[in-house]
Amino acid sequence: MSDNPAFAALRGLCCRGFPVSRPKNDTFLRALLRQPTDYTPVWLMRQAGRYLPEYRETRKRAGSFLDLCKNPGLACEVTLQPLARYNLDAAILFSDILTVPDAMGLGLYFAEGEGPKFERPLKEEWEIRNLAVPDPVQELGYVMDAVAEIRRALDDSVPLIGFSGSPWTLACYMVEGGGSDDYRKVKTLLYSRPDLMHHILSITAQSVTAYLNAQIEAGAQAVMIFDSWGGVLAHEAYKEFSLAYIRQILAGLTREKDGERIPAIVFTKGGGIWLPEIADSGADAVGLDWTVDIGAARRLVGDKVALQGNLDPSVLFGTPEAVAAEARKVIDAYGPHAGHVFNLGHGISQFTPPENVNVLVDTIHSHSRQVLAGR
Ligand code: CP3
Repeated sequence: MSDNPAFAALRGLCCRGFPVSRPKNDTFLRALLRQPTDYTPVWLMRQAGRYLPEYRETRKRAGSFLDLCKNPGLACEVTLQPLARYNLDAAILFSDILTVPDAMGLGLYFAEGEGPKFERPLKEEWEIRNLAVPDPVQELGYVMDAVAEIRRALDDSVPLIGFSGSPWTLACYMVEGGGSDDYRKVKTLLYSRPDLMHHILSITAQSVTAYLNAQIEAGAQAVMIFDSWGGVLAHEAYKEFSLAYIRQILAGLTREKDGERIPAIVFTKGGGIWLPEIADSGADAVGLDWTVDIGAARRLVGDKVALQGNLDPSVLFGTPEAVAAEARKVIDAYGPHAGHVFNLGHGISQFTPPENVNVLVDTIHSHSRQVLAGR
């Protein structure tokens, strides 16, 4: 295992015990702002998670996934675990997008092996009319405490990403009561009571705006909006029921703090066909899944936004040689231009062999150095 030298010392320590002097690496933030960098920065969606044995150990100690999210010290510990192993260029807050509807009173729980569920999904009109915007500092204080603790532990070594779900993606879970194969309940509501659908989305957009601004206040240096289910919407419906609310959030976000720009990334899974509209939403960067040719995407958006992505996470099930070859293809497709943050096209699988992540991160760094040096 080739440890990130800056973080090797951190392994196994709890947040409060971290040493203080580490080099500052802001490559990720500069790439998001399309400034030149010597190499392509890399982080991975779900980089702290079940593919890491140390994560499974901490989760066991916490009791459950939700206990882990609600314990700032342990959330900090798992946030730093992938950084101790790999040369990653950013940390992402360890939490979940569903903490927001939980704070709205829906009662989040995780049934073993079944994914997230809500005790009180939105069914009746009065339940929808009663929805209110939670105060993020009061109701989601554990998230803000985790952000502050992680920032202190990172000590500016790499930037910290805060995040939220998009209103549409959160609404899918709030109406379906959990994951879904066909989105029948939420689409029934959308096509039978669009007024109620818009009400849910409007309250949720206000909640997300306040939540992300509180994360920024607590120390998040970039924010990402996960629109994981935007891609299940019809062409016009995507713009009306997902992108319009993402735009609202972007318009309400704190974009500068202590003289630094706080970049915002929008990731719509399955959103490649709407790239021009997403690039025009007010985002600094657009996340791409693996169905998109990132070179074509760059030519399409020009200098408007940075791009983040987009290796198929399943590539990490292959041989180390295949991982390196596929990773180089993404770098070559983007070409010798500023404004690329390497990532997977969706979250890393729990079945990923951890050694392949080393191959991936090291290949991205070394190969992009060569490509960018030829600029
Ligand atoms: O990227 C990171 O490392 C930060 C942590 C993070 C988690 N969830 C931790 C998590 C982030 C950014 C999320 C976002 C999230 N959560 C999304 C959007 C991104 C995406 O994947 O599309 C969604 C849709 C959720 C909702 C959610 N949470 C689902 C569907 C599940 C179960 C799926 C699964 O992988 O089992 C979760 C649980 C969850 N969130 C886990 C982790 C590490 C696994 C829980 C465990 O430890 O058992």
